[in-house]
Amino acid sequence: MTGATIWLTGLPSAGKTTIAHEVAGRLRAGGRRTEVLDGDEIREFLSAGLGFSREDRHTNVQRIGFVAELLASHGVTVLVPVIAPYADSREAVRERHRAAGTAFAEVHVATPVEVCSERDVKGLYAKQAAGEISGLTGVDDPYEAPVTPDLRIESQGQTVAESADAVWGLLAERGLV
Ligand SMILES: Nc1ncnc2c1ncn2[C@@H]1O[C@H](COP(=O)(O)OP(=O)(O)OP(=O)(O)O)[C@@H](O)[C@H]1O
Ligand SMILES: [Mg+2]
Repeated sequence: MTGATIWLTGLPSAGKTTIAHEVAGRLRAGGRRTEVLDGDEIREFLSAGLGFSREDRHTNVQRIGFVAELLASHGVTVLVPVIAPYADSREAVRERHRAAGTAFAEVHVATPVEVCSERDVKGLYAKQAAGEISGLTGVDDPYEAPVTPDLRIESQGQTVAESADAVWGLLAERGLV
């Protein structure tokens, strides 16, 4: 089976993790070997010790990209719901896949910040507003939105199933399901 890395980039609470798990469930049901490399879990282990500076965010994304490519090169469909705020970091991951001949697609979960801060799944927007934290992506830390993603999802006003359908459509179009 052909593996692939599907990177879901977007702001906190945009819907990356939710969509990734919905798609992963469908892939598994179809008999595909699938992994979800989620930012929060990765930061506990693979990226333990890294913070949220530009440099550390870059390193975090490169490490995840490295593991994703390894898995994908062995036939796993890897979903990566990780913010990855910097365009050059994402480009380096794409280049690593291109050089290895491994399929890669970038999905921009482009939920507007107003909707994300309303959802505020982890309470980060509220904490930032209260001055308890700083450096929140899209609020007081940069988010460089992809200019030409392979797919853009406007999750606001869409069900999770509809957003997952869009990713599924991309996979189908590329012969990856
Ligand atoms: N179409 C949709 N797709 C994805 N999530 C949606 C959609 N509509 C509503 N939601 C809701 O939005 C929230 C998205 O939270 P989720 O944890 O997936 O965001 P995230 O992008 O992974 O954030 P973080 O970067 O903080 O991990 C969930 O509560 C989900 O149910
Ligand atoms: Mg998440």
